[in-house]
Amino acid sequence: MKTLTTSELSENIKRSLGINPRSENYLLESYVAQEKTFNLPTEFLSEANKNNHIELYRGYIESFNRISSELDTADRSSVNSNNSRYRSLKIDETYNMNGAYLHELYFSNISDLHSEISMDSLAYMRLSRDFGTFDAWQNDFIACCQASRCGWAVTYYNIWTRSFMNTLVDFHSENVPIGGIPVVVMDVWQHAYYKDYLKDVKTYTYAMMKQLNWNVIESRILKADRVGKVLQAG
Ligand SMILES: [Fe+2]
Repeated sequence: MKTLTTSELSENIKRSLGINPRSENYLLESYVAQEKTFNLPTEFLSEANKNNHIELYRGYIESFNRISSELDTADRSSVNSNNSRYRSLKIDETYNMNGAYLHELYFSNISDLHSEISMDSLAYMRLSRDFGTFDAWQNDFIACCQASRCGWAVTYYNIWTRSFMNTLVDFHSENVPIGGIPVVVMDVWQHAYYKDYLKDVKTYTYAMMKQLNWNVIESRILKADRVGKVLQAG
């Protein structure tokens, strides 16, 4: 049997994938994230704070889309780990993608003026199961909010341990656990609270947690629970 050269092997793979082997543009990364609108009736944040925050979120969406299109044509032939445009774009891609979607998760799960969690909800049962008690989850989550240097506190479903855990993320992309499905997200960047609470992140966190949207969180926990069951079955 003839041994294929690397180039021939590459062409065969491209053909089997329906890609023109002579085309240089067979791996396009371009995508467009759509900006969403959020209703934030909370009085625990000033209108100026909310408007400023939405502007910041828009900036992440724009940057994410722009970086994506720049990656389409970025030079991949002279990449190195010290300094290369491709490396910088990939780092900025994750940073801005997380910045966009963490904000969407955050805006969606705060500002519920009728916030209420019932003891027979899946959220209450799963958080109680994995943290010992619901209060223990709350205390640990608040600790994550205070421990993040400038970033996020996240309750997530861990596909490896198959349990819900809390973590803190610095900025948008430092200490992001792999295999995590976020279900409760709190923005603890200073821009989220400084205008209204100065450096009192604890009072800000308490205020936001009083208005968590447990309907949204319930839906996320239900989906994460299903993912867990699928993985268990697989
Ligand atoms: Fe933010």
